[in-house]
Amino acid sequence: MTSQLALLGGRPVRKRPFSMWPVFGKAEETRLLRALRSGRWGRLQGAEVERFETRFAAMHGCRHGVAVANGTVSLRLALIAAGLRAEDEVIVPPYTFFSTASAVVEANMIPVFADIELATFNLDPAAVEAAITPRTRAIIPVHFAGQPADMGAIMRIARARKLIVIEDAAHAHGARYKDRPAGSLGHLASFSFQSSKNLTCGEGGIITTNDSRLAGACRSLQNCGRVPGGVWYEHHIISGNYRLGEFQGAVLNAQLDRLEAQTNTRDRNGRFLAARLGLLPGVHPQERPASCTRHSYQLFMLRLDGDAFGAPRPAVIEALRAEGIPCSAGYGFSLPQQPMFRERAFGPYLDRAAARLDYVRVRCPNSDLICREQGIWLEQALFLGRRADMDDIAEAFEKVRGNRAALAAWDRARRPRRRKGAG
Ligand SMILES: Cc1ncc(COP(=O)(O)O)c(C=O)c1O
Repeated sequence: MTSQLALLGGRPVRKRPFSMWPVFGKAEETRLLRALRSGRWGRLQGAEVERFETRFAAMHGCRHGVAVANGTVSLRLALIAAGLRAEDEVIVPPYTFFSTASAVVEANMIPVFADIELATFNLDPAAVEAAITPRTRAIIPVHFAGQPADMGAIMRIARARKLIVIEDAAHAHGARYKDRPAGSLGHLASFSFQSSKNLTCGEGGIITTNDSRLAGACRSLQNCGRVPGGVWYEHHIISGNYRLGEFQGAVLNAQLDRLEAQTNTRDRNGRFLAARLGLLPGVHPQERPASCTRHSYQLFMLRLDGDAFGAPRPAVIEALRAEGIPCSAGYGFSLPQQPMFRERAFGPYLDRAAARLDYVRVRCPNSDLICREQGIWLEQALFLGRRADMDDIAEAFEKVRGNRAALAAWDRARRPRRRKGAG
């Protein structure tokens, strides 16, 4: 006999909060104070950002790291550093944060959407192939939620077509594909340190690469178009000041010491929860291919097939929240349906190309289905806890499923009644 849903007046599965984010302590305080008291607060004066760049790049299998203001700028600078030109086409997924595509527009290039796979939520290599045109110059696979995209297939396509691959690794700190770190799998990679991310300093980003020439171009773009060894008032290419400050560098150095253990904890907990939830009818956790040797679980994602589960997503989310499990539906629609794309509100960018671009007609059925009906997200901090936390999450899902008939009835009762004869 399943106990009554908390939504309907029963006792919630969980009353205690989950792990908090960000995690910080003495180490962050000490480093921040040291940076403060040094009086060397800028990237070009202090040593924190430089040290962080070297350490982060090495941890991600790269010789070079160029820290920047955020993970949007890092994508934009990577595209420019790779030598792409105005109105070149860049293939991006539709199931990702705005920046993956907005950075392309802000580089005066054209985002072309290729659908994701329903099972993995990651870019579908077959859709990438189909989206290639004579103007395609680059692909931005997103390691969505922290699970590496199918980089073997994507790099094969890129080699055959001479395309640049920029990993959007904003979610993938510490993730591994066939035991190789995310961030070292394409020509360049972009990470974010914005406050929700698995490694954070509030706002920040980094570009990683193993290519010295590309690293040099990124360094120059990050630093007002100056060149290494050049003179202060000598700017060789158009760019701006995209440097990261020393306070952020100090926090990042302390946070980086925690990353390895935190990533292993999230990976262990996420794997456990996926196995358990996968036993429930209608619940499809993000499918994890064997190539994903470490998942960073920036998000834990699943698809809920409401018919098979016995209750629709909005009701299930409300019921889970009432049981004490924070969760959400994630993106409500696919990225090409953003007003910015629908209305081609590109500002001064893509001036000539805009007239021939029509994002209203873009169809990405897998992404659309996940956004509109099926996706459920749980955030990374939940996965920093113990096995008992995972048990609570699983128990809440099981309880909601056990009460599906009552939940579906509650959901039907709250919906506005259709008027008879209404079209
Ligand atoms: C997939 C993805 N790419 C890029 C970004 C942009 O990062 P930032 O917010 O640091 O500019 C984000 C972050 O929010 C993201 O989730």
